[in-house]
Amino acid sequence: MTLAELLPTLGDSLRGKLEAGIWPRSVRHGHDGDLMFGGLPLSQLAARFGTPAYLLDEAEVRRRCQEYRRALHEVEIAYAGKSMTCRGVLRWIAEEGLSLDVCSAGELAVARSIGFPAERILLHGNAKTPEDLKAAIGYGVGRVVLDSLDEIEQLGALARYPQQVLVRVTPGVDGHTHKAIATGVEDQKFGFSLASGAAEEAVRRVLAQPSLKLVGLHCHIGSQVSRVTSFEEAARRMVGLMARLHAEHGLVLPQLDLGGGHAVPYLPGDPDFDLAGFAQRIRCAVNYECAAHRIPVPRLTIEPGRSVVAPAGVTLYRVVTVKRGPSRTFVAVDGGMSDNPRPSLYSARYAVRLVGRRAAKGMRAVTVVGRHCEAGDVLAQDVPLPEDVHAGDLLAVPCTGAYHHSLASNYNMVGRPPVVSVCDGVARLLVRRETEEDLLARDLG
Ligand code: LLP
Repeated sequence: MTLAELLPTLGDSLRGKLEAGIWPRSVRHGHDGDLMFGGLPLSQLAARFGTPAYLLDEAEVRRRCQEYRRALHEVEIAYAGKSMTCRGVLRWIAEEGLSLDVCSAGELAVARSIGFPAERILLHGNAKTPEDLKAAIGYGVGRVVLDSLDEIEQLGALARYPQQVLVRVTPGVDGHTHKAIATGVEDQKFGFSLASGAAEEAVRRVLAQPSLKLVGLHCHIGSQVSRVTSFEEAARRMVGLMARLHAEHGLVLPQLDLGGGHAVPYLPGDPDFDLAGFAQRIRCAVNYECAAHRIPVPRLTIEPGRSVVAPAGVTLYRVVTVKRGPSRTFVAVDGGMSDNPRPSLYSARYAVRLVGRRAAKGMRAVTVVGRHCEAGDVLAQDVPLPEDVHAGDLLAVPCTGAYHHSLASNYNMVGRPPVVSVCDGVARLLVRRETEEDLLARDLG
């Protein structure tokens, strides 16, 4: 791709301006090409915490929680912990009054360690282990979202009445997203199919378990979904199923969980999720369908993860080397697919910005790569960086608050980066950098 081709979407970055919509709202221009993040210069944060480092803007996360609660005041907002779990973040989520979706005993252990209210926790997972189920029962989590016939029996045997449960349904709705994160369509591992009748069979099985109390249905059509119509369609189909269950079993289910998956912009020009439109259209769809089928309107739950934390995150890297090839320039940094596997997993695209010094005027399209031993270890393809980018430069990548820390690995025995929260000019280490001692601690020789 040439610079001319990149220009229409990347014009702001080429002009040195902050690209609209992809940086946390606290980010401002600082001195000498620096950016201010939560009131602190990025170069200062890099010097203090080292690189690579995940930064999180606390005020941005809290503001996003508040925006959800305002737009959907009658709806339960359950933060999807898989997008980013650590004690600091879960504390903010608890304080902002959100509920929490966890999908393993491990995520639950973090929530439990900060005393996250058990009644506001939902346990998810297509293959919950006995340890997951026992941990959930032990902490008294409010609801378990059932995902297989085996699980219905296993939980039925372990739980004490009234363990509240929901049944996860696959509504057959396409979220038009990457196929690795599309979960609403038939023929995949999540949920019980609505079309085949498997969902109704699951409901019958739950009703036969004396220890379980069925309180509702759940669906999650996928992640990074931008079309509100897909959510609307899923809501309609789910209410249709509730109506059938009402007609056949006299069941009145008080809850309907429509999952998460709200898209965020990663590149300048990507559309933002229409939260107000979502709120209005989902409300209308559910109310209309309930009235048409003459069933009571259930309380809605939604489970946003990415849209709460992704836009609050920025990752800092240090350039290690610049290699000019015949057709491409590679800018290699001190992180890579171990701290961000999303480009390799989902062909995700990111913007990159040089920070901390004044740069030469000219820009060139480069490929930012990581330090790992794979040709596919690419962080950002065809992004404009100043022509004089060189070893030692600091790079900032926006929109990295979700599914970065949580997807990180130790590939090539590289320690995972720290998580640093910044708010009103104060930086706080939430998760420290992983050391070689950490890496050796589990290896018993
Ligand atoms: N609820 C359920 C049941 C889910 O499975 C998920 C995500 C969510 C809520 C939250 O979805 P969100 O609002 O964060 O899109 N690693 C992938 C994303 C995997 C999503 C898995 N489930 C990525 O980096 O894009």
